[in-house]
Amino acid sequence: MIINFNNNNSVSFISHIQKLINFNFRIMPEKNTIMQISDNILEHAFKKIKSISIKAAVFNKIINTVFNSFCILSLLISFSACSPSSTNNVEPPASPAKSAVSDVSFNFDTKTVKLNSGYEMPVIGLGTYSLKDDICVNSVSAALKNGYRLIDTAYIYHNEESVGKGIRESGVPREEIFITTKLYMNQYADAENAINEALKKLDVDYIDLILLHHPGAHDIEAYKAMEKAVSEGKIRSIGLSNYYIDELEDFLPQITIMPALIQNEIHPYYQENEVIKYMLEKGIVMEAWYPLGGRGHTAELFNNETIAEIAKVHNKSSAQIILRWHLQKGVVAIPGSSNPEHIKENMNIFDFELTAEDMKKINSLDRNEKHDWY
Ligand SMILES: NC(=O)c1ccc[n+]([C@@H]2O[C@H](COP(=O)([O-])OP(=O)(O)OC[C@H]3O[C@@H](n4cnc5c(N)ncnc54)[C@H](OP(=O)(O)O)[C@@H]3O)[C@@H](O)[C@H]2O)c1
Repeated sequence: MIINFNNNNSVSFISHIQKLINFNFRIMPEKNTIMQISDNILEHAFKKIKSISIKAAVFNKIINTVFNSFCILSLLISFSACSPSSTNNVEPPASPAKSAVSDVSFNFDTKTVKLNSGYEMPVIGLGTYSLKDDICVNSVSAALKNGYRLIDTAYIYHNEESVGKGIRESGVPREEIFITTKLYMNQYADAENAINEALKKLDVDYIDLILLHHPGAHDIEAYKAMEKAVSEGKIRSIGLSNYYIDELEDFLPQITIMPALIQNEIHPYYQENEVIKYMLEKGIVMEAWYPLGGRGHTAELFNNETIAEIAKVHNKSSAQIILRWHLQKGVVAIPGSSNPEHIKENMNIFDFELTAEDMKKINSLDRNEKHDWY
């Protein structure tokens, strides 16, 4: 069976099947497996797939994953073994998520933004996806020695211990550093334990920010566990990743603490301007993953004629122009790198400013082109 996502008939066929079987599963892209986790991430993916152009490699990944998943799903559904959706499962709290809308504009002198939780967070940091063991330790340590104060990790990156080690090796005091980690979907059903595990792996007394990595079964329960951990002083701020407007509209009435931050894919070819506007208006800080387009996609962005021209005028690299563009849009950036020179370069973006015309030109590069599917 061949599924061609460029073909409208195929897409509507898939949508049709999707509606018929009323998915209660979500796909885990990293492991290419299916977990019993609820409702709409696949639907969300289909919406994205229909509305965007994706490069061949990503297509293949999606096609393989979706096709494999369909086969397994059909079997599983025939045994009617679906788990209940998290959102149906959990009673809404007495008072819905509310907070006075905070000013989330960036302070370029301190290089920070104030989260709605009251804590200051750096606006540029190091991403550690795919950094492992000593490479991760050295990258984190190099970043902190070069002025970084924000490190982004996640349970699923399998490097929280290395991040903790890099922090200790840097010699920078813990209290000066802002650590973000994320709970993965297979941890949501026992999030309290997952939070304790993250504290232990990072070897810290508190975590500055924990995000739910994706929408998934038991995400409301997991979020409530994070709310409890905030009251216990284990976490300072909480937020979400890969939640867009629809997911958030569903989520917010069921929780108490407004997310401080949402981390989604954002780069010049996938700008998510509508989502950014919506979040900022709610006082939620936006943070970009794949700020440079993601591994395997950076060259096409760096060599983009418009970006390269702007870089030449400012005597900066394309990477620096793109990162500065993020910050001037009010989006926190966490470029990933294991190269000490790149790490240094990516922090060196506070001695110049893009003009309104530069910003306009880069804004016009939006292609709605996602480089990953979630
Ligand atoms: N929440 C989510 O679902 C999610 C998903 C993906 C990623 N993330 C987070 O977002 C972070 C950023 O994403 P990413 O690291 O995958 O992609 P990225 O930051 O867009 O790009 C990383 C790539 O850019 C290169 N690079 C970095 N700085 C450079 C420079 N100055 N000049 C030339 N090349 C440069 C890196 O290579 P070198 O190592 O050679 O510098 C690496 O290949 C991740 O590390 C992770 O923390 C979150």
